[in-house]
Amino acid sequence: SYLNLEFNHTGELLATGDKGGRVVIFQREQESKNQPHRRGEYNVYSTFQSHEPEFDYLKSLEIEEKINKIRWLPQQNAAYFLLSTNDKTVKLWKVSERDKRPEGYNLKDEDGRLRDPSMITMLRVPVLRPMDLMVEATPRRVFANAHTYHINSISVNSDYETYMSADDLRINLWNFEITNQSFNIVDIKPANMEELTEVITAAEFHPHHCNTFVYSSSKGTIRLCDMRASALCDRHSKFFEEPEDPSNRSFFSEIISSISDVKFSHSGRYIMTRDYLTVKVWDLNMENRPIETYQVHDYLRSKLCSLYENDCIFDKFECVWNGSDSVIMTGSYNNFFRMFDRNTKRDVTLEASRENSKPRAILKPRKVCVGGKRRKDEISVDSLDFSKKILHTAWHPSENIIAVAATNNLYIFQDKVN
Ligand SMILES: *[C@@H]1O[C@H](CO)[C@@H](O)[C@H](O)[C@H]1NC(C)=O
Ligand SMILES: *[C@@H]1O[C@H](CO)[C@@H](O)[C@H](O)[C@H]1NC(C)=O
Ligand SMILES: *[C@@H]1O[C@H](CO)[C@@H](O)[C@H](O)[C@H]1NC(C)=O
Ligand SMILES: *[C@@H]1O[C@H](CO)[C@@H](O)[C@H](O)[C@H]1NC(C)=O
Repeated sequence: SYLNLEFNHTGELLATGDKGGRVVIFQREQESKNQPHRRGEYNVYSTFQSHEPEFDYLKSLEIEEKINKIRWLPQQNAAYFLLSTNDKTVKLWKVSERDKRPEGYNLKDEDGRLRDPSMITMLRVPVLRPMDLMVEATPRRVFANAHTYHINSISVNSDYETYMSADDLRINLWNFEITNQSFNIVDIKPANMEELTEVITAAEFHPHHCNTFVYSSSKGTIRLCDMRASALCDRHSKFFEEPEDPSNRSFFSEIISSISDVKFSHSGRYIMTRDYLTVKVWDLNMENRPIETYQVHDYLRSKLCSLYENDCIFDKFECVWNGSDSVIMTGSYNNFFRMFDRNTKRDVTLEASRENSKPRAILKPRKVCVGGKRRKDEISVDSLDFSKKILHTAWHPSENIIAVAATNNLYIFQDKVN
């Protein structure tokens, strides 16, 4: 199943990672001159095995190959670079195209066999001959042995020289060139693990200020840190938290307030957080409450007991901005996903299904009804399928093209041309 989705910075490539440790990259085909009204579709460009299952002999623990996160690096030459991580190890991959191969070696023949030196009597100049396009993925760096707990986030810094990796209790800063050393920039591990009350759930660098990053916690809080203040950012420079509404307090309050994803807006002015029932937008200049709160599936409030029993309450939904930060998208159950327009305050529930993914099919808004009479086209909250969940989505950086990972399928929807 597809686990995470990430468009490259121009949206021409879409990388996905899966449970089996594979990375699949899709490329948008060139728009054809004959069919100007047809948008380019995304086809498989490259597939490679990024991580293999491993065994940690010291702790007697299996390390799954499952890819937790993928991040593109900005393109600097003809090749593409991306980071992928499982629970413990981050890898830097180079993906490059080859459409020529050298011929006419001096010391070996065309099949790679060494030639008899006594037969080599003159110097040949190798030539490059055209061949079918090949896309190669090669591991360039392996950043291992720096995380005791599970890595939940990786984020490339806007200086393009460093990135960070975050696990439940620590955040490390790496230089892309150095694999044997990382700097610990956040450490919330208490001296006595029995005093542990909070874990790190996600972390991200500011899109433009290379010294600033945020991380979220299982207690529903967000901390903004400035690396210029001190080497170890244990003291945050801003702390975002909304006081709890006492009338809503329940056994589940703490679980559902845990933040599963945090994302800076492209502008860098806002941060968005996803918890179990809502998406919130925070202004960096206001720490005591979010400026916007969107209900993703408030009808589940009455179902928290069964969602706790089937573990769904611990699902980690992600959230994304569209390219101009005006629309927010996040997932729900029953293969539904939600969009919130920040300007018009309109919201919509859409469904990722085979039916909808036929060419030229139009996504119809769906409605969930709670109790009472069910209208035609509505679905009752009791018939939602909680095994069909949309945790990961991606939005093209400059167009209305979205990618949605449903249980075993990847859907790409695009706006109609004109
Ligand atoms: C994204 O991928 C396309 C290749 O299909 C490439 O042309 C473009 O330069 C890439 N953009 C960035 C910023 O990496
Ligand atoms: C990392 O490797 C480099 C080059 O091999 C070496 O010079 C450096 O001392 C190493 N650093 C650590 C912390 O092991
Ligand atoms: C409290 O619950 C109601 C619905 O039951 C919801 O609309 C409201 O946003 C909740 N308040 C907070 C602070 O979550
Ligand atoms: C963001 O969404 C709005 C509303 O659909 C749309 O008008 C705008 O073009 C989108 N921006 C980008 C960059 O996709």
